[in-house]
Amino acid sequence: NVNSNSINYMENSKKVYVGMSADMIHPGHLNIIREAAKLGCVTVGVLTDAAIASYKRLPYLDYNQRSEIVRSLKGVDNVVPQETLDYVPNLERLKPDFVVHGDDWMQGVQSNVRNRVIECLKQWGGKVVDIAYTKGFSSSAENERLKEIGTTPEIRQKRLRRLINAKKIVRILESHNGLTGLIAENVSVIVNGVKHEFDGMWSSSLTDSTSKGKPDIEAVDLTTRLHDLNDTLECTTKPVIFDGDTGGKIEHFVFTVRTLERLGISAVIIEDKVGLKQNSLFGTDAVQIQDTIEGFCNKIRTGKNAQVSDDFMIIARIESLIAGKSIDDALARAAAYVEAGADGIMIHSKNKSGDDIKEFCQRFRVANVSTPIVVVPTTYSHITETELASWGVNVVIYANHMLRSAYPSMVNCAKSILMHERSQEAVNDYCMPIKEILELIPGTKKTLIFLLIAFPREALISLPEFPIHC
Ligand code: SPV
Ligand code: MG
Repeated sequence: NVNSNSINYMENSKKVYVGMSADMIHPGHLNIIREAAKLGCVTVGVLTDAAIASYKRLPYLDYNQRSEIVRSLKGVDNVVPQETLDYVPNLERLKPDFVVHGDDWMQGVQSNVRNRVIECLKQWGGKVVDIAYTKGFSSSAENERLKEIGTTPEIRQKRLRRLINAKKIVRILESHNGLTGLIAENVSVIVNGVKHEFDGMWSSSLTDSTSKGKPDIEAVDLTTRLHDLNDTLECTTKPVIFDGDTGGKIEHFVFTVRTLERLGISAVIIEDKVGLKQNSLFGTDAVQIQDTIEGFCNKIRTGKNAQVSDDFMIIARIESLIAGKSIDDALARAAAYVEAGADGIMIHSKNKSGDDIKEFCQRFRVANVSTPIVVVPTTYSHITETELASWGVNVVIYANHMLRSAYPSMVNCAKSILMHERSQEAVNDYCMPIKEILELIPGTKKTLIFLLIAFPREALISLPEFPIHC
């Protein structure tokens, strides 16, 4: 497959390396490749999902899709995976004469990456070539626009497996309505130059029930929970893990799986309990009856047989530690559930130290290196994500924090109004400004352009300077 650039390469034998994520190719990328091709034979290192997820949001397209696109761009001779944000491993292997990049990497976190590239290239006399950044195209702005466009059930569903494969630990936040979904979707912080954000949402039976003033005993039926979850699905793009409680009767679970799949939910977690479900955080203060291993394996198997796509995950939640049983019991169940087809294991405990979870994870990983482990560190909240990951945990669920943080603030606000017989103090202490709430949800304020298109007559009547008759 000799194209003009390979001829170019043969003539001057210079090797040029370009690293890129290539999730949304824009003229800026094309310009860099054009400039790179003038210098020699171009190898593009396409960053893998894991390399990208190490510092920002997982790309929309997966590695194979992105590398296929780059391979077909004019001026590209070779495509290789770049497995880390750091260029050095690829550079040491390929020993390019030039590394070409947009000059935006001279500032911010990326400047460290650039410095390492310069140092590395010095070993064989290679050089960095910074190309003037093409203004008017920003990947982050494009990302925001994509969020506005939304997603499809298929793309959303696949994302959880991709995240688990790409990230050291996947971070999930409880969401019980559209507003909390928007928080999980949009809130981010920068820590040491790296953007931290949540990877998806947990549809919790506890907070779904509580926000309806109902107990967490499977009293809120599936149809109602999914009806409300639809609000979250409408305004978010991140994956959802659904708390399926016990999964109900095996015959009903089959329909639950199909319904969740159709909505684009990525995973359902079902717990190995039977009878009237009690919230796990009661521990042995409530009657927690575990299913038999055989009975629960049968439920998992039936669910797996019912699912249509390969991407949907059925995760088995082990309640041994909640029911006062041993870690050995939990491990025996985990092995059997994986054997029955579970795509992941959630191990739960209300122990405050986290020691039992640590022991379970470490022992489970001796026999099983790949099945994802999910934890819910509600009681052992002092354990950091890095520690959890070092035990072999893949997914951490912050299972109730949106509701638990909102409720005290609402109660205090209500009390303040009662106490002062007016709302001024409550507004000062507990409320966001009206202006902020009006601007919180895009589209709350219609612009003149929108009104003119949607309701031209009404819009013109309402404007004194544009009387309708003129
Ligand atoms: C939930 O969030 O509903 C859960 C986790 O199932 S827990 O409340 O800890 O049982
Ligand atoms: Mg629950």
